[in-house]
Amino acid sequence: MKVCIIGTGYVGLVTGTCLADMGNDVTCVDINKKIIDNLKKGVIHIFEPGLSELVKRNAKEKRLSFTTDYNTAVKDSEIIFIAVGTPQKDDGSADLSYIFSAAKGIAEHMDSYKVIVVKSTVPVGTSEKVREVIKENLKRKIEFDVADNPETLREGEAIKDFTNPDRVILGTDSEKAKTIMHELYKGLERADKPIIFTDIHSAELIKYVSNAMLAIRISFMNQIAPLCEKVGADIKAVAKGVGLDSRIGPRFLQAGAGYGGSCFPKDIRALAYNLKQHGLGSEILDATDQVNEKTKKSIIHKVKKLVPDLKDKKIAIWGLAFKPKTDDMREAPSITLIKQLQSEGAKVRVFDPEAITTSKKYLENIEYAENPYHALEGCDAVVLITEWDEFRNLDKQKMKQLLNKPNFIDARNVYDPKEMKSLGFNYLGVGR
Ligand code: UGA
Repeated sequence: MKVCIIGTGYVGLVTGTCLADMGNDVTCVDINKKIIDNLKKGVIHIFEPGLSELVKRNAKEKRLSFTTDYNTAVKDSEIIFIAVGTPQKDDGSADLSYIFSAAKGIAEHMDSYKVIVVKSTVPVGTSEKVREVIKENLKRKIEFDVADNPETLREGEAIKDFTNPDRVILGTDSEKAKTIMHELYKGLERADKPIIFTDIHSAELIKYVSNAMLAIRISFMNQIAPLCEKVGADIKAVAKGVGLDSRIGPRFLQAGAGYGGSCFPKDIRALAYNLKQHGLGSEILDATDQVNEKTKKSIIHKVKKLVPDLKDKKIAIWGLAFKPKTDDMREAPSITLIKQLQSEGAKVRVFDPEAITTSKKYLENIEYAENPYHALEGCDAVVLITEWDEFRNLDKQKMKQLLNKPNFIDARNVYDPKEMKSLGFNYLGVGR
């Protein structure tokens, strides 16, 4: 099928590339000439395991191309995805200006029937507004349909999430669009992983409610973690026991340093804003956000338990990215912690396998280490804040020797507290 993707950010590029890999003919459009020029050369601007190879292969086999020109990309395609950003505005609402400008661009170049699919995360009602914007900007009457098809890609796992999704959500009121979209996605359909057709509004909400539900679970466990510390329980045991209830399930129950990224924090706030807009309460969402901020700010208290006076002390930080397998640091708990440490006069030495370049946008006056061991040299404590695999099995004796003091704060509960204590570490986890 002929597909056009507007926006070559994370969602657009992964979606376009994976659709091309399924045999479709995909053109990705972006107004950023530099990004497009680089993509044409096979240079991709985001870090996602496996994506670069897939882009190069599909471009070489001529199923995937890149352009800044809406004209032929729109005209040649039957399905057009809008996959542009919806960043958070100061009041917590989603900025939809890129969505509407993409819709306008599509309308100006459309010359035959199209299905316009909103892939970006948008507040309920946005896809209907996209329909209006297209209608208003069409040069003559042309038939088209609008669908909402929210993305469910996790950074670091995006290709797997695209090719083996738990479900594909498709919201549309048009039978014709339904048939076309089913044709596009039927290769991903499995007996237990269906394509769900809904009305447009429900599809938009499914996305926000899914992300909110996951964030609520995390904040709830982060709220329980300090109680575990007070009473001598272990949050990991609690999560395991709770998660074995098949009504609850085990995932997204890990307490730690709080959630970050470009999705949960923004989407929780946008959904809360949406509820308030309709005169409705958003208490659970507001509390989830507050608990998360509190959790992010709580890690320094653990550091101070072991290093009470931080002035001129050296603290090693393992991890900068908001989670492993990405270089993304948006709303990362590491930023909160490092800024707090610096404001108390501590010096910070960091190691992250991928996010060093990104960190220069967010942080100043930090020392960069070449590997996890190098980060520890002469430090008064180490904080593990992103659970990269390479932090899991290090030589603990060597770690102890390199540290000035064997203070280990495990903000992601990776290590075994008993073992660490028996080896002579002053170990503090979260909720254990
Ligand atoms: C999230 C959703 O999982 C995707 O389904 C969704 O498509 C995406 O947002 C989006 O809206 O685009 P992502 O932000 O990439 O994906 O990352 P997650 O793996 O969901 O992790 C989010 C945050 O929660 C991370 O900071 C992670 O460390 C934290 N987390 C996750 C916990 O603190 N505890 C857990 O048990 C799980």
